[in-house]
Amino acid sequence: MSELPLNATDEQAVLIARLQGEADALRAELDETNQGVLALYAELDTQAEQLRQASDLKSRFLSYMSHEFRTPLGSILSIASLLTDELDGPLSPEQHRQVAFVSNSARELSDMVDDLLDLAKIEAGRISISPAWFDMFDLFAALRGMFRPIVDASAVDLIFEEPMGLPRLYTDDKKLAQILRNFISNSLKFTTRGEVRVSARLEDDDKVRFAVTDTGIGIAPELHGALFEDFSQVDSPLQKRLRGTGLGLSLCKRFAHLLGGDVGVQSTPGAGSTFYVIIPLAIAVEPADET
Ligand SMILES: Nc1ncnc2c1ncn2[C@@H]1O[C@H](COP(=O)(O)OP(=O)(O)OP(=O)(O)O)[C@@H](O)[C@H]1O
Ligand SMILES: [Mg+2]
Repeated sequence: MSELPLNATDEQAVLIARLQGEADALRAELDETNQGVLALYAELDTQAEQLRQASDLKSRFLSYMSHEFRTPLGSILSIASLLTDELDGPLSPEQHRQVAFVSNSARELSDMVDDLLDLAKIEAGRISISPAWFDMFDLFAALRGMFRPIVDASAVDLIFEEPMGLPRLYTDDKKLAQILRNFISNSLKFTTRGEVRVSARLEDDDKVRFAVTDTGIGIAPELHGALFEDFSQVDSPLQKRLRGTGLGLSLCKRFAHLLGGDVGVQSTPGAGSTFYVIIPLAIAVEPADET
């Protein structure tokens, strides 16, 4: 405590003493607040750790579960295919219908399990990127082949525009194919007439923009923001007749981020939608994270 000035009047002395008293009280209050803040920090740390553990457990559960589902699903699919091929004797038309129903459901379940497994791997930071040089012509050709059986049986045209003037890409072609596959399969699901058009063009010299444009039912603007979240599906009469988990677009967004890019949508109800992904022509490869 400081000495009072010698010539201080009584009044000044009282004032100074009061101010000192107030300063002491303020200091004590600050000390208390500081301790409170420290306690809060400690509590936040504990909660963050608990959240990390819970998220870790969830990811582990998802990956074990999806993994365990794969074997029995594989058996169901191969037995269904043995029956369809009539290796153990002929089937009646009704039996064919029933077996087709079993294998379609098993295939859908298997796709769902694959999506969940991918999601769990991404959340656990365990998904790895394997970049390679490749040509867009080859990727489009593979996608065209994959969708041929569906397109042949549908009134909707699937058009792949020639990827003109595009250099070779250095990225993970499997992840890119997975993004485009989900965009295309969505567009085919939600389009009953017209066409689905797939295109690729250069953007800003060092990026490429892939777009899937359809003449389908479209999506109201206020729903665009939520589309890329897990399990998000738009309520529509068409949706009720279709299957799906609502994980496809969320996975597309995560894969695009892994490839150093992003996804987006433009859509008008009743007119159609464009889903696009923009990624670097060459992915910057970071050293693998071992944690
Ligand atoms: N091209 C599109 N036209 C209209 N609606 C679309 C289109 N693409 C996506 N949607 C809407 O966004 C929702 C989410 O799509 P997403 O791919 O995530 O899930 P899904 O196709 O329903 O299921 P999954 O892909 O997991 O099998 C769809 O259910 C649909 O409501
Ligand atoms: Mg989908």
